[in-house]
Amino acid sequence: MPDVTWDFTGKVALASGGASGIGRAAATAWLAAGARVAILDQSAERLEETAAALGGERLLTVCGDVTEVADCERAVDETLRRFGRLDVLLNAAGIGGIGRVWELDPLVWDRVLAVNLRGTFLLTRAATRWMVEHREPGRVVNIASTNASVPTTGHSPYCASKAGVVAFTQVAALELAPRRVTVNAIAPGPVDTNLTAPLFAMAGARDAFLRHIPVGRIGRAEDIAQMILFLSSAAAEWVTGQCFYVDGGQSLVALPPYIDLVEQLLGVAPAGAPIC
Ligand SMILES: NC(=O)c1ccc[n+]([C@@H]2O[C@H](COP(=O)([O-])OP(=O)(O)OC[C@H]3O[C@@H](n4cnc5c(N)ncnc54)[C@H](O)[C@@H]3O)[C@@H](O)[C@H]2O)c1
Repeated sequence: MPDVTWDFTGKVALASGGASGIGRAAATAWLAAGARVAILDQSAERLEETAAALGGERLLTVCGDVTEVADCERAVDETLRRFGRLDVLLNAAGIGGIGRVWELDPLVWDRVLAVNLRGTFLLTRAATRWMVEHREPGRVVNIASTNASVPTTGHSPYCASKAGVVAFTQVAALELAPRRVTVNAIAPGPVDTNLTAPLFAMAGARDAFLRHIPVGRIGRAEDIAQMILFLSSAAAEWVTGQCFYVDGGQSLVALPPYIDLVEQLLGVAPAGAPIC
């Protein structure tokens, strides 16, 4: 990963889902840039491991569930008690849950929507309340997905939750802009993390995904962390309400690559006029 120099000295960031994958990569990058970082995650085991790997005076871990109002408020309170302020919120806690619509367990639907969408709302609510009350400028970065706008079968709760995250981001950005708090979303393509490990462990899955990624590799959590750092930096003051696709170009090829398909079908390169 090329070295981009960020300076977050004096800043405090809180990341949900920060004990794994994208959230942990952001926490690592913020710590390297001088920030103090709090992590809210429901996995005590991953928090312990993260604290052992990154820990020190500038890291706080909080075990809790983003779907619970009390846990979100406690995470903000503990961050403020330990570090005295809160400049940046990252909503990265997220889960998947698959099944075709007519077979899907409503409990799976409820849990995916609760973690991905309600959790994003609850922690944003708790964090921005402090920013607004203390008239402090702030940054909120929400992790959506390419699936917010690119549908895929079996993923109705995930797609709906991530589309919801983008809509929530836009409304929150409008409400918070006059209070100098920006709110943006990132839509990652497939990234190697604990979330995708079971998928990519299946024979052939990696190659199937790679065929739809023009840049030619699966993403790394650090690819997303670089965008998180930009959006949470002072440099992004005039950026709000946007959703940034960080996906190696995947969202550009949601349809089968047209000209390749036509070439395949015709057996020759199509010249001139479009065929349809
Ligand atoms: N990995 C990908 O390919 C990919 C692609 C697009 C979007 N995303 C999104 O990025 C975000 C981070 O995903 P990741 O790939 O780093 O996953 P991950 O599983 O590696 O990390 C997610 C973390 O969130 C925590 N978490 C889950 N539910 C929680 C809850 N209710 N309360 C608190 N913490 C909870 C987990 O314990 C875990 O540590 C998610 O929102 C995911 O939907 C991931």
